[in-house]
Amino acid sequence: MPFARNAWYVAALPAEVTDKPLGRKLLGEPIVLYRTPEGTVAALLDLCPHRFAPLSMGMLVGGHLQCPYHGLEFDGAGRCTLNPHGNGARPASLNVRAFPTVERDDLVWIWMGEAADADPALIPDYSCRIAAGRRTIGGHMRVDCNYRLLVDNLMDLGHAQYVHRANAQSDAFDRVEREVVAEDRCIQNLMKLPGGSPTVFVSKFLDVGNQTVDLWNDIRWYPVSAMLNFIAFAISGTPKEESMNSMGTHIVTPETDESCHYFYGASRNFAIDDLRVDDDFRAWQRQALLIEDKPMVEAIEGLRAVIARHALKPAMLACDEAAVRVSRRIDAMERETA
Ligand code: FES
Ligand SMILES: [Fe+2]
Repeated sequence: MPFARNAWYVAALPAEVTDKPLGRKLLGEPIVLYRTPEGTVAALLDLCPHRFAPLSMGMLVGGHLQCPYHGLEFDGAGRCTLNPHGNGARPASLNVRAFPTVERDDLVWIWMGEAADADPALIPDYSCRIAAGRRTIGGHMRVDCNYRLLVDNLMDLGHAQYVHRANAQSDAFDRVEREVVAEDRCIQNLMKLPGGSPTVFVSKFLDVGNQTVDLWNDIRWYPVSAMLNFIAFAISGTPKEESMNSMGTHIVTPETDESCHYFYGASRNFAIDDLRVDDDFRAWQRQALLIEDKPMVEAIEGLRAVIARHALKPAMLACDEAAVRVSRRIDAMERETA
């Protein structure tokens, strides 16, 4: 599996990581995550060096992870701290690989490549998730497709007009204004739909009377597969800065070649104390991500063998520029690893 390894990926949501070990496959590797007594997140290869038992089936004993099979114990750096057998010798062959982690913006990031290259400054900014004045609703789900299909999906939000027609179809779509901005570690696909009737989603939150609305849908990509989606709406003519908006977390981490983890969230700047609006956002995420996007990308995944057999290349449309640019960047990162 040619994943780009020298990069930060999201491994888990902080609430998922407790003193009960969590086994999770990331980039094809079995990883065990747990919280140390000091509160930091440990990430080890989920494979005991003795007889290869999954350490995630074990438990924390005195702050160390105990293998469930013959009781070797490990610290958060993967060093064997106890061998209860024979003379208790602990040669280096009893250590297990540990991976750097950073807990930031209510996300747990992991570096699966060369540990010496793990620079936390390369982690993209998701501070909107914890910002005062915003309220975040989100979660984690698995999707049975290669992670690149979800990146393609997210980098062209024009699909909303069709896949998400129940909530997001706009009569201004034929006037869409697009701009793609490519920088060193960020590619943005900026979309504006000016002067339309409010979509079903917008009408839930904004009473426009007989006026029209402007809609913005700007998505940013950061290496390798972390996206931030700015959805905004306002009465036509209102500056973008004064819009009601939501900053969307859309981070995809490969699980296997044929599946991925999807960490999602919406950090809105309105009705932040209204629990009913929390429920509206949960319902919208369930509808858009689980009921609408997931079956589409999984259906395409199901055709991958046929696509490969016929050596098919995707036909290009005007909406594809950002997705193609992102795809080339990821290709280059994957080649570096190979
Ligand atoms: S397999 Fe872990 S101690 Fe034997
Ligand atoms: Fe979608």
